[in-house]
Amino acid sequence: MKLYQQLADDLTALIRTGALKPGDRVPSVRETSRERGMSPATVIHAYELLEGRGFIETRPRSGYYVGSQWKPTQQPRIARPSPRSTLLDVSELVFEVLESLRDRQVVPLGSAFPSPTLFPLTKLAAALSASARRLQPWSTVEDLPCGNAELRRQISRRYLRSGATVSPDEIIVTNGALEALNLALQSLTRPGDLVAIESPAFYGCLQAVEALGLKAIEIPTHPTHGVDLGYLAGVLGKHTVRACWLMSSFHNPLGALLPDEARRELVQLLEAHDVPLIEDDVYAELYFGKRRPQSTKAFDRKGLILNCGSFSKSLAPGYRIGWVAAGRFAKMLGRRKIMSSLSTNIPAQEAIAQYLQTGAYDRHLNVLRRTFARQQKTALQTLQAHLPAGFTVTQPEGGYFLWLEFPDHVDAIQVHRKALENGFSIAPGPIFSARREFTHCVRLNYGHEWTQATEKAIQALGAIVRS
Ligand SMILES: Cc1ncc(COP(=O)(O)O)c(C=O)c1O
Repeated sequence: MKLYQQLADDLTALIRTGALKPGDRVPSVRETSRERGMSPATVIHAYELLEGRGFIETRPRSGYYVGSQWKPTQQPRIARPSPRSTLLDVSELVFEVLESLRDRQVVPLGSAFPSPTLFPLTKLAAALSASARRLQPWSTVEDLPCGNAELRRQISRRYLRSGATVSPDEIIVTNGALEALNLALQSLTRPGDLVAIESPAFYGCLQAVEALGLKAIEIPTHPTHGVDLGYLAGVLGKHTVRACWLMSSFHNPLGALLPDEARRELVQLLEAHDVPLIEDDVYAELYFGKRRPQSTKAFDRKGLILNCGSFSKSLAPGYRIGWVAAGRFAKMLGRRKIMSSLSTNIPAQEAIAQYLQTGAYDRHLNVLRRTFARQQKTALQTLQAHLPAGFTVTQPEGGYFLWLEFPDHVDAIQVHRKALENGFSIAPGPIFSARREFTHCVRLNYGHEWTQATEKAIQALGAIVRS
């Protein structure tokens, strides 16, 4: 990195963290040049860069100052969605964004998926071919509809690590978590029913609610610590809500993590109103801390939680193996599964069960988590270096998404279209909203190898937002 860039980055960090506040005087060119042992021209170059990005401004005959419009907020604000329920009409935009992700030439900052090269595909392929060779003819019948017994046993054991006791009997293996989530929603609701969802929410949730003709009430969700429980309590007290659909671990798109104590409170609240929770938990294994966040299932005494997990994001993309631990709704979900797709690919289930038995999953996860944590750091540094002042960004404790909030006048859909013209994608905020809010927000994926092309894409993002 060039000297002037290093200096600009260092000052940016001081401004972002609030060590230098709006209106503070920035050390003079002469002071900085002396202290850092740089030529005055290098310092001026750095200051001009910061000025161009809106971090600092010059005052005639007085020197450089931190820009007055720059606020050192580190986290995006919590959104306040409308308190009224709404029938959804998820726009074409979701499909437009998904379509753009299929092009390998496009830098996939807008993707929902991590890089497929981060997974032990060769070992899985060996397990798959062995399982196909050994396939017991009768397993095609016996594993209907709940799935491979060994796989369900392995999944049940993994719940123990997050403090929950989940019997293999309540687990139904599905075609990815998306089938699990949809089956859960279908089982618990009738058209016209009201469900509580987060704001913003994973677009798959919005699509499922729309497809079933349900009404949604949106619950504000904090970018760091998740769903607003006070607001949810108010909604449950006032309305007949058939189900809640939430993500408590590494929310998509925010990356938020609901603290353990809040999970207990959430379950108590649901129990008090006898409202089931459809929990989308596909990123639960991707934590950066020392231990897995406690599962909400750990507090569930009434079997109200339908916890939906998957191997798609953590082990085996494309194998389409997910599950639901459906609590007291397990029998109903098993029947729905028969009506929906009968069963889940049997050799793929067997292969994953075998792989889990070897213990290699934990070793793979340790590497994957470290990779994502490292890439998050790089992504944050790169954003800091290239984006103009006035944006905020999350710093999640797991997963592979960042949520950026720009000043209100930035139009994320325009940014999305311009990004594609420049050879990269982003996920614009409105695809995560029932009312197409978050028009100035963007989700970025850091789950792909960080290359020069990624660096250039972020640079171009800075230029697009500035323009
Ligand atoms: C939040 C969330 N839930 C569920 C899914 C679907 O998971 P699966 O691929 O296991 O069906 C995705 C995939 O993008 C997701 O991001």
